[in-house]
Amino acid sequence: MSGFDPEWLALREPYDHAARDPELPARFAASLGDAPTIVDLGCGTGSNLRYLAPRLGREQSWICVDHDQLLLRAAIDRIRAWATAPGWSLAPAPGGIGVAAPDFSIRVRLCAHDLARGPPPDLPAGASVSASALLDLASAAWLDAFAGRCRQRPLLLALSFDGRLEFSPADEDDEEVRRRFLRHQRTDKGFGPALGPDAVAFLADRLRKLAAAHGQARRAPLGHTRDRGRCSAGWLGGAAAGSGESRRAWPHRRPSRSSGAAALSMTKPLGRHRA
Ligand SMILES: C[S@@+](CC[C@H](N)C(=O)[O-])C[C@H]1O[C@@H](n2cnc3c(N)ncnc32)[C@H](O)[C@@H]1O
Repeated sequence: MSGFDPEWLALREPYDHAARDPELPARFAASLGDAPTIVDLGCGTGSNLRYLAPRLGREQSWICVDHDQLLLRAAIDRIRAWATAPGWSLAPAPGGIGVAAPDFSIRVRLCAHDLARGPPPDLPAGASVSASALLDLASAAWLDAFAGRCRQRPLLLALSFDGRLEFSPADEDDEEVRRRFLRHQRTDKGFGPALGPDAVAFLADRLRKLAAAHGQARRAPLGHTRDRGRCSAGWLGGAAAGSGESRRAWPHRRPSRSSGAAALSMTKPLGRHRA
């Protein structure tokens, strides 16, 4: 169990999708072949797949990797509900589920694997790699190894916290919560000491040094809406824990306020496009 609550992932999903840069899936799609295999690292309940699959079009195979069996089981339910609402057809698929929509179809295989031990052993040679809300959990050593293994693959890595954190209107405990949150960003989440807000710049630099041709790092803010407060309270609530009555109450004050966070997306389609 990783500690990521499926309910919280569901709560943040619309904000995450709204924050994503729509140009990046188009660039990623252009780097893929006719029936691509996409590996979603740290898939959670499949939010990244639900965002990308309709935007990529065509027939797709997904290998959704996470070490949390609870989230993988929830992913099946969430994908089923997502596909059923617009009337897309469902089909069983080995180790997962299949969905056929008018403009795309997906075959999803769920893969329980601890990424801290490296990529899944049966990663298909031509597979593209994607992840959302994962990079800031990783360490320099892990990202270094990842860059080496994945530099020849199309990559789309979205929603990495980049250090910008703004609260509005201001609250007396914001500074302390920000300080604690940023400190937590650097703690070990299983991959070694996390790079947190520096992860994307670090990975982009490594990929550039590995002679990757045309990557792109883009910044996009997560939404500043009233409802975002409920979601942020879940995201930042841990940082408010500890001593102090006022700070313990901080997550409960937040729902009535707007708050924001930052995200950074990055794509790096490399090498020749597979036909
Ligand atoms: C912030 S959540 C993001 C989930 C999903 N990608 C999304 O955008 O909603 C991070 C995910 O990474 C997974 N994760 C963390 N460490 C992992 C590891 N060592 N191996 C595999 N998955 C891991 C967690 O279980 C969780 O699902």
